[in-house]
Amino acid sequence: MNIGIIGCGTISSAYFEGARKTEVLEIKACTDLRMEAAHAQAEKYNCQACTVDELLADDEIELVVNLTIPRAHVDVGLQVLESGKHVYSEKPLGVDIETAKQLIDTASEKGLRVGSAPDTFLGAGIQTSRQALDAGKIGRPIAGTAFMCGHGPEGWHPNPAFFYDIGGGPMLDMGPYYVTALVNILGPVKRVAAITTKGFEERIATSQALNGLRIPVEITTHLTGTLEFQNGAIITMIMSFDIWRHSLPCIEIYGETGSLQVPDPNGFGGPVRVAQERGEWEDQALAFPDNARMIGAIDMASAIGSGRTHRANGSLAYHVLEVMLAFDKSSETGEHVKIESTTERPNPMPLGLEEWEVD
Ligand SMILES: NC(=O)c1ccc[n+]([C@@H]2O[C@H](COP(=O)([O-])OP(=O)(O)OC[C@H]3O[C@@H](n4cnc5c(N)ncnc54)[C@H](O)[C@@H]3O)[C@@H](O)[C@H]2O)c1
Repeated sequence: MNIGIIGCGTISSAYFEGARKTEVLEIKACTDLRMEAAHAQAEKYNCQACTVDELLADDEIELVVNLTIPRAHVDVGLQVLESGKHVYSEKPLGVDIETAKQLIDTASEKGLRVGSAPDTFLGAGIQTSRQALDAGKIGRPIAGTAFMCGHGPEGWHPNPAFFYDIGGGPMLDMGPYYVTALVNILGPVKRVAAITTKGFEERIATSQALNGLRIPVEITTHLTGTLEFQNGAIITMIMSFDIWRHSLPCIEIYGETGSLQVPDPNGFGGPVRVAQERGEWEDQALAFPDNARMIGAIDMASAIGSGRTHRANGSLAYHVLEVMLAFDKSSETGEHVKIESTTERPNPMPLGLEEWEVD
């Protein structure tokens, strides 16, 4: 399948590299508002650089990977759908629930598909974790924790302002990895209760390009809350850009007969550990290849070919967005927020795949 890339910034190289590993899709063209960025990637990865309009008018391109900043995801996605192409977007799906719904509805009216990062849950770490749970290694899941704590990306990202704008913050930036991993393992979320705050009114960029730039903080940067899943499990969550140092694990799930340690959901690998009753942690053999970014779009292209449902799909990303937005909503209203949407756990990756294979 010929695909196009819109957005040739920091993360785009990971996608261009991923596309080199598969015969399922090929990047035909790329574009960016900054044409110099598109030209640089086109030259490096041997594809065509063109304008957004030219890319969308190219009938040979069936799917567009949208790697723009969060605020642009829905607008660009709608343009892609209007041009009759499927869209796979970086995370989050959108920055508010209304426009994200418009994207999903438009795709279904047009018989087109929406896909969305993260695709890290298709890697060895989260797939093996889910397999351990599904195999009954910790029994019925009762509770768990999910922690992503750091001090934000303004020290390394070349253009960090979007992380502190609407659509950024630890929840919409990093939450997609955590909530998607949890939904993949435990199923959909029923309700959220949370309290959120902002540790600093502004941030100062220290990356080489923009050293000293003052960035106003438009979003909450420390979010703490509890998610109740439809299966009854409750997960305590902290997502923070206000913490310099900590000793908290990424994700742990506590079951009736044991505990499961899930690796960093922002990566594709392990380790995955299980402890049964009073036993020690034991490393689990990783039953799947690691893979890397682009595997979600490869899975989507392959699924379009065969007619099956793709795993990193719009329904999952929409549910995850609603859950993430519920944190600030609960904090503002002082009430539990009932999650209106639901979704299916995506099909697990089949056993026995080679790297970069999806079926
Ligand atoms: N940087 C990372 O490590 C990383 C990792 C995973 C996911 N992501 C996600 O990838 C997306 C992009 O992040 P990034 O770090 O590459 O940002 P970036 O600012 O480096 O790049 C974004 C690019 O999109 C272009 N762009 C913005 N609006 C556009 C539009 N309407 N049309 C065409 N081009 C447009 C910008 O000119 C820029 O080149 C974000 O959603 C982010 O959450 C980033």
